[in-house]
Amino acid sequence: MNTGLEYQKVCELDEVWEGEMECFEVGGETVLIVHAGDGEVRAYDPACPHQGHALIEGDLEDCVLTCGAHLWQFDVVTGKGINPTDTALISYPVKMKEGAVWVAFPQ
Ligand code: FES
Repeated sequence: MNTGLEYQKVCELDEVWEGEMECFEVGGETVLIVHAGDGEVRAYDPACPHQGHALIEGDLEDCVLTCGAHLWQFDVVTGKGINPTDTALISYPVKMKEGAVWVAFPQ
């Protein structure tokens, strides 16, 4: 089935261990790959939706990402804000193929 999404290979799965996050650059785009505590891999815009601070400089504990700038918190399973709740991370579609992480960036 053609979903209309073009996926690009970002990294090998074993480059981001469970419970960790890492930034990768692919074709001029930077993406934050989060291997969440639930074992699933997710891809997010690397900038905090508050004031654009780099989320990679924050703290990931279990499934909660805390931005290092003003301590906003996000659930990395859903991408939704925990504190405050009226915000969310920008997520990109992810698929796993041959042990690698593929992401569809916005066109
Ligand atoms: S920039 Fe992330 S909490 Fe303010």
